[in-house]
Amino acid sequence: MSNTETVNKQSLDIVNDLPIDKQIEQLIKNHKELSISRSRKSIVNDEQDGLKLLPESSRKRLEDGGIDLSKGYPEVPNRDEIPIFVDEAHAIRDYDVPFVDRGSQADPEKKALFGAATEIIHLTDKVGTEIVGLQLENLTDQQKDELALLIAERVVVFFRDQKLSPKAQYELGDYYGNVEKHPQVPHVTGLPGATVIWVDYGLSKGLDLNFNNANFANWDSVRYLGYGNQGWHTDLVHERQPAGYTHLHLDSIPGVGGDTIWSSGYAAYDKLSDEFKKFLDGKKAIYVSADAYLDRNDPLGGPKKVERVHPLVRTHPATGWKFLFVNRGMTKRILGVSPIESDLILNFLFDIYEKNADIQVRFKWTNTKSGYGTSAIWDNRISQHRNVWDHEGKSPRHGTRVTSLAEIPYFDPESKSQRETLGLPLKKWDA
Ligand code: SIN
Repeated sequence: MSNTETVNKQSLDIVNDLPIDKQIEQLIKNHKELSISRSRKSIVNDEQDGLKLLPESSRKRLEDGGIDLSKGYPEVPNRDEIPIFVDEAHAIRDYDVPFVDRGSQADPEKKALFGAATEIIHLTDKVGTEIVGLQLENLTDQQKDELALLIAERVVVFFRDQKLSPKAQYELGDYYGNVEKHPQVPHVTGLPGATVIWVDYGLSKGLDLNFNNANFANWDSVRYLGYGNQGWHTDLVHERQPAGYTHLHLDSIPGVGGDTIWSSGYAAYDKLSDEFKKFLDGKKAIYVSADAYLDRNDPLGGPKKVERVHPLVRTHPATGWKFLFVNRGMTKRILGVSPIESDLILNFLFDIYEKNADIQVRFKWTNTKSGYGTSAIWDNRISQHRNVWDHEGKSPRHGTRVTSLAEIPYFDPESKSQRETLGLPLKKWDA
């Protein structure tokens, strides 16, 4: 008998007297080759592999920022601590966390922020603004509040050539809300909450992403799964308090390709007719997690996702504007209509977000100096985003993301849409 067979046999013997859920729990914890659906079976605790792959510019940023790389990189959550059962995953952050949107107390004219910048560039009419001449690390609280309001209005705001340590990025996220610490995904060593966005590392661990399957999730993310971040999505919609301001800082950027696209949820809502808006206002839907777990009471019944119910149309606490809160991979079902009706409506709503280029911005990341990076801060409440993997991993792309969780989602029936508030024309379909 080989060594592997001995180990497997022993651990199976040990668990045989236990109830079935405990047996399965032990099997999964003891056998790293086992996984539950889209779990991270290939990401094992060998952080030295990451260090070998870490691009020079990223290493410089991490070291300049005081990250101790002697213990390896990235840090992968301990397999023992990763939830196996859906009730465990549901219990994470299943309590109220006070939240005040920093944008709601900001000067609407944003004088402190705009006054200090050398240039404000709107990249498209509806979405995306680049700010030139400011370092995120040096913003005053007043400027941070105004930046929050600008993001809430423009969906995503960009800053190039930033000298920003992961700790400073974390602190900015902490100012904007409750920083999400993911139970599964790799993070900066010693800094849970600074999630590593590094498809190249996933590929080195067996992620099955290639030119042919990269965009499958944009057809059917449930049947074909998501590979990397190429499917249109919104982060963490299954949380009790889903994601708000979210900050991706890329410190290694391909010379060509690797862009990111965002689409506006305010504008997606305004694409709908008045009658259809009325139908959707006040409706609720079931939102699911990206990762799947097992049902403790039916552990052989297949993977299950964490589910939470939120309003399908939400009101933004800082702008007061209504927005459409859906995304293809993680909005499962509208309540109050039949499953077939729900699928038809949801697919139409996903298309609204994904197919209207006039409500989107495609951002080309650039970098100038080693150890520096470019930041995108977006509002996950009012948007979907996706990466474009056209560089196919030929040149390194690495970054860190800090996600601030926001309010318990709500719909204010008195709130108005963005275009209504701004007095922009809306077609009446009465003829
Ligand atoms: C993300 O989906 O949060 C990351 C997008 C990107 O890597 O461009």
